[in-house]
Amino acid sequence: MREILRELQRRREEALAGGGARRIEAQHARGKLTARERIALLLDEGSFEEYDMFVEHRCTDFGMDKRKIPGDGVVTGWGTINGRTVYVFAKDFTVFGGSLSETHAAKICKIQDMALRNRAPIIGLFDAGGARIQEGVAALGGYGEVFFRNVQASGVIPQISVIMGPCAGGDVYSPAMTDFIFMVRGTSYMFVTGPDVVKTVTNETVTAEELGGADVHCARSSVADGAFDNDLEALLQVRRLVDFLPANNASAPPRLPCFDDGGRVEPSLDSLVPANPNQPYDMHELIEKVVDEGDFFEIQAEFAANIITGFGRMEGMTVGFVANQPMVLAGVLDADASRKAARFVRFCDAFNIPIVTFEDVPGFLPGTAQEYGGLIKHGAKLLFAYAQATVPLVTVITRKAYGGAYDVMASKHIGADVNYAWPTAEIAVMGARGAAEILYRKDLDDAEKTAAHIAHYEKRFANPFVAAERGYIDDVIQPRNTRQRLTRALRMLGSKKLENPWKKHDNIPL
Ligand code: HXC
Repeated sequence: MREILRELQRRREEALAGGGARRIEAQHARGKLTARERIALLLDEGSFEEYDMFVEHRCTDFGMDKRKIPGDGVVTGWGTINGRTVYVFAKDFTVFGGSLSETHAAKICKIQDMALRNRAPIIGLFDAGGARIQEGVAALGGYGEVFFRNVQASGVIPQISVIMGPCAGGDVYSPAMTDFIFMVRGTSYMFVTGPDVVKTVTNETVTAEELGGADVHCARSSVADGAFDNDLEALLQVRRLVDFLPANNASAPPRLPCFDDGGRVEPSLDSLVPANPNQPYDMHELIEKVVDEGDFFEIQAEFAANIITGFGRMEGMTVGFVANQPMVLAGVLDADASRKAARFVRFCDAFNIPIVTFEDVPGFLPGTAQEYGGLIKHGAKLLFAYAQATVPLVTVITRKAYGGAYDVMASKHIGADVNYAWPTAEIAVMGARGAAEILYRKDLDDAEKTAAHIAHYEKRFANPFVAAERGYIDDVIQPRNTRQRLTRALRMLGSKKLENPWKKHDNIPL
């Protein structure tokens, strides 16, 4: 028996050594942790149970029969984050560059199947060179199996990807189908084809960082939802995100103990909106003053900053926030902002997370660039996402709610449950100047008359009361009471039950 135990120990040590000391050292020299070090930081101490550490590839081509490393380039298993079960796989770059073989894929699939069957989130840590070149189509088949499971799990359990090194070729599409992608600045990059292929095909000279670094995917392509400075920070932030998320689509969001009074009054909010309607203010301030303990986890902070999306808590319960940001492009809705917010709304709705919308929007962004870029279709995504949502929806109009954007931003007409406005709200088809110039085009040469028309339009529509008179706004609230009114509304909506008509699936304008 002792001999058998010694053999077990020897085999475990061999597997835990991954690609060996030299490759681990190289990994550290690049500022990257190893797969197992990452898992240890991500999960509660001592909670990780590893599966399949003895799995080896079965490839015999290119001398691979003589090169076997137990684990085969990916570490898989489950553990807990603040006591809640999560499944995890982490590509081990020290073993064949973390490349995906048939058996490597089978390990990931096993964990995906367990996560889906047991209805708990799955987190993938990526640091890999794509398909195992020596395996050919067997590796491609393996990717397909992983992709298929990503799609089956979508909307059932939260799926999170963290890119912590190379992520190229076949490796990019699994993260792309998960709910959130985070990157590590300076050490991670994602692309379908690398700089060499780009050079051959398009004759562009580009570095890996320029092609698919964190800046590219967080600020330009919107493939990624956020970036962090190093492995440690990324893993700690993923722990923080998981705390906001329910385990699956049939469970309520977690409710954490709350030490922030739901009735807290914030007098400073009474002066948040400047007297001049063209002067911006920071919508982050409103969110942070309203959520529990000012704790807000922003999603896609660097992309389409004219709209803010992210998670906070109200009386301990997770809430998704969508808010126009007057500081950026006056908070206008453009194609990028619409896409960003639509995806966030759909995530919240899929996972039973109530949505609070703060609205200050001058309308959709005019111009050829937007129209040629499909503003109609992208704007429709957001409209569709809100109209389809069955979770509690509470909206607060702080200032402008102009034109189609009024309808789109969780108006009563498309299904919002509770709609409030601050006294500073202006709910109208458009701004007073634009309206006067269209209605009284013949008076345009007469500055005095035009000013009178503008003043008249402002007086008639630049307020929340026309909408309130019709019941489109449930109440005009004092800004300082916003947290109190929201917590009460969300409590009241806790038992909301709404089902859309049966359908196989809808046809959101993609
Ligand atoms: C097998 C691989 C590998 C791969 C890396 N390695 N990528 N082994 N298959 N795809 C091995 C290397 O041989 C090396 O082994 C070790 O991993 C580390 O690789 P290095 O090249 O030394 O590291 P580095 O200089 O950091 O470069 C990392 C890299 C580079 C940029 C990822 O390795 C690379 O370009 N790899 C190939 C990427 C690629 O083209 N993959 C296929 C994509 S096509 P030793 O033993 O020396 O440590 C694809 C199609 C799927 O994925 C489509 C499905 C839809």
